[in-house]
Amino acid sequence: MKVLAIETSCDETAAAVVRDGREVLSSVVSSQVDIHSKYGGVVPEIASRKHVESIIPVILQALDNARLDLDSIDGIAVTRGPGLIGSLLVGLSVAKSIAFAKKKPLVGVNHLEGHVAAIFLSDRTPVFPFVALVVSGGHTIVYLARDFQDFVLLGQTRDDAAGEAFDKAAKLLNLGYPGGVVIDRLAKSGNPEALTFPRPMRDSLDFSFSGVKTALLNYTRKREKPIEEGEIPDIVASYQEAIVDVLVEKTMRAAALNDMPRVAVVGGVAANSRLRSRFMEEGQKRAIEVFIPPPVLCTDNAAMIAVVGEHLLARGRRDGHDLNAVSRWPLETLLK
Ligand code: KG4
Ligand code: ZN
Repeated sequence: MKVLAIETSCDETAAAVVRDGREVLSSVVSSQVDIHSKYGGVVPEIASRKHVESIIPVILQALDNARLDLDSIDGIAVTRGPGLIGSLLVGLSVAKSIAFAKKKPLVGVNHLEGHVAAIFLSDRTPVFPFVALVVSGGHTIVYLARDFQDFVLLGQTRDDAAGEAFDKAAKLLNLGYPGGVVIDRLAKSGNPEALTFPRPMRDSLDFSFSGVKTALLNYTRKREKPIEEGEIPDIVASYQEAIVDVLVEKTMRAAALNDMPRVAVVGGVAANSRLRSRFMEEGQKRAIEVFIPPPVLCTDNAAMIAVVGEHLLARGRRDGHDLNAVSRWPLETLLK
């Protein structure tokens, strides 16, 4: 089966064609980063308008790269949530129009399940069940992934998401947007032990990242002199280390508590080089197999949506032409 997938939940307009939920025939991602970086974060109203502009060219490019036309597509998968409602509606409306005009089956996909499914496009893939850490700009959640559509919530952030903590720190230090990418790069030449940032809630599987952000704010306020450029690498390396420590420790604990020898790390923050290497190291130490998609499959893309779409379509799921977007849609509420 060849599935055309469309993803417009945030600030990336994406389309992909994936064969049999495994082989990426094309994956096109048009980023709006340049537009939103002026404002230091995603402006929802601008994001929706940009999606309207880009969605058809992005889909045409995906079909062209796959050397296919709409008639040869077997089904359409589209992200229906969670995400920015105006952005989601653009992808959803276009997906429904294509499904209607071409009489193709349509399925709505949960964006977070898409992030988890990205692991099945990697060279090394886990078998269910496994513990999944989903770390993105809006979510930081640990699940026990028992199967597609079958996720048990083990822990989640009580305030900011890890990606948000990166983005807010970068904004505070005037490093640009999205913060995770910049901090990842600058931290490479810094000392992660130069400063100590809090690692809260050690005994819980829930997360909290607002404290580490406040600690950075207090650090910048307490200083007598402005921060010089040369100091940035140590600051961001120490900040990153606090976030990485907590993510690794709690995910590994969740695996141990559930007697689970497999862990998948997915979502935009899973592109972080320090997080990736620390997870691999800890996995080896604790005899837990760690799976992380390549960075392009960690950040938002439509190929991951196609994997879930393939699975749902193969099981006979069809969504009607009344399919709507949902801004909040926890994975553990998916219906089997
Ligand atoms: O999954 P994603 O692309 O979009 C959402 O669903 O939110 O994640 C975006 C988040 C942003 O907060 C961004 O700063 C973070 O992922 N991110 C990173 C890196 N690349 C993207 N964070 C840390 N290191 C990176 N290399
Ligand atoms: Zn995402």
